[in-house]
Amino acid sequence: MNSIKSTSQAPASITTEVRRIPTPEEADLIICQEVDLLTRGNHQIWSSPDHDRSQYVHSFFQYPAMMVPIVQKRIIEIIVNAKGDVTNLLDSFMGSGTSLVAGMQMGLDCYGQDINPLAVLVSKTRTGPFYFKAIEERRQALFTHIEQDNDTIIEANFNGLYKWFNPPVAAELSRIVRAIRAESNQTIRRFYWVILAETIRLTSNDRTSTFKLHARPLTETATRTVSAIDVFKKHFANSLEDLREHALQLEDADRLLKGAYIGQVNLNLLNSKEHIVTANDKEGFFDLHVTSPPYGDNKTTVTYGQFSYLPLQWIDLQDIDDRANDTFLATTSQIDSFGLGGVIRRFTPEELQLLFDASPRLELIHQQIHQIDPKRARKVAAFFYDIYQTIQNIHIAMKVNGYQVWTVGNRTVAGVNVPNNVIMTDFILSQGAILIKTINREILNRRMASRNSQANLMTFEDILIFRKIG
Ligand SMILES: C[S@@+](CC[C@H](N)C(=O)[O-])C[C@H]1O[C@@H](n2cnc3c(N)ncnc32)[C@H](O)[C@@H]1O
Repeated sequence: MNSIKSTSQAPASITTEVRRIPTPEEADLIICQEVDLLTRGNHQIWSSPDHDRSQYVHSFFQYPAMMVPIVQKRIIEIIVNAKGDVTNLLDSFMGSGTSLVAGMQMGLDCYGQDINPLAVLVSKTRTGPFYFKAIEERRQALFTHIEQDNDTIIEANFNGLYKWFNPPVAAELSRIVRAIRAESNQTIRRFYWVILAETIRLTSNDRTSTFKLHARPLTETATRTVSAIDVFKKHFANSLEDLREHALQLEDADRLLKGAYIGQVNLNLLNSKEHIVTANDKEGFFDLHVTSPPYGDNKTTVTYGQFSYLPLQWIDLQDIDDRANDTFLATTSQIDSFGLGGVIRRFTPEELQLLFDASPRLELIHQQIHQIDPKRARKVAAFFYDIYQTIQNIHIAMKVNGYQVWTVGNRTVAGVNVPNNVIMTDFILSQGAILIKTINREILNRRMASRNSQANLMTFEDILIFRKIG
């Protein structure tokens, strides 16, 4: 029996009817109808101010600009149900892996990449395998190791160590590091490293109110007493609980076998401007790309790299990814320089024209900013040049009729509004795609750089859904 179902329930396999795969146009229509239906039912649905922060181990590390998992899950669910033959998902700017954990709930093969080693570590931990029983069993041994350790060696060595860490905190962090290294299982070590990263965020002398490295005043740090070991233990208990819940949800959905995800998970420390990983380097590989890209170069918007610099000084980088090494920590802003728009240079007229042909709106914006501040115009060009390259790579990696979901916010540079939503849409359409749907969302619960005036302006975002055309 032929039927095209419009449903935001569980995957179609639950029905006994043999389901015809809808045509691409039918699938587009179903997606738009489902989105409209949900929006009519609840105007806040895409903002999700009340979402559960512990869901999908979302809260065990506070990565900047995290997406709301339930919003990603809803959209993925709608597209998977509408299209009928989605098997895999990519997030080319995965951050802490929110899209990927949402994709796992739907049983998709998940591919993700990010230029920040800390993002890769958090995402690898959130996507499993989930050895929460073993972690529970070994917890006491870990804590005993920390408590009985009398060694005085400090396990980090970088410029400004004692500016960022009071000596007693550095000594306690070193004891935790040695205890983590004593664990033989790498997956379990990764879980411990993430907890250590959050401990470092809370016990270093860096302010937690901004993503940029910014030391607390000396008057405060001189009298500050905080125990890294206490923070670690407390956060350990909460994180293990979140991990267990996440694993049980996946188990309930029949997505786990012996603690490991039944599908593929392939996460890499990679610059998406340079390369998108697919199985066997195949082009036309992905059914779905769900991402939230940076809004501008990291240094002037959200400094993901600076935010990660202190934790990464204590974590064994080889436990994260084969590509992780000390060059990522050469300076406090090295990771941000690796990100989109991280290298500013003069563009040839031909290079700029390539971008302007793809997006006439960018030409206008660039001209306006150039008149006010040529240096900032160059920064804007650098960012859009890099994202254009990335969009080209992603387009090649997508299947014909594959969908892309981009959550994008705008920003202001030199007093000029930079409409990322329009410019990125222009770029994606220029590759051979159509825009299916735009969803507006308010950013209510997304942790923004609240002291960062650029990010402060971003109170609305667009979720843009595209389909690649043949
Ligand atoms: C908005 S965040 C993604 C947050 C994510 N959606 C979450 O929920 O955690 C953007 C990410 O893009 C990464 N990034 C920036 N430039 C990149 C590049 N050239 N290649 C890969 N990742 C990059 C940053 O490190 C950051 O983690």
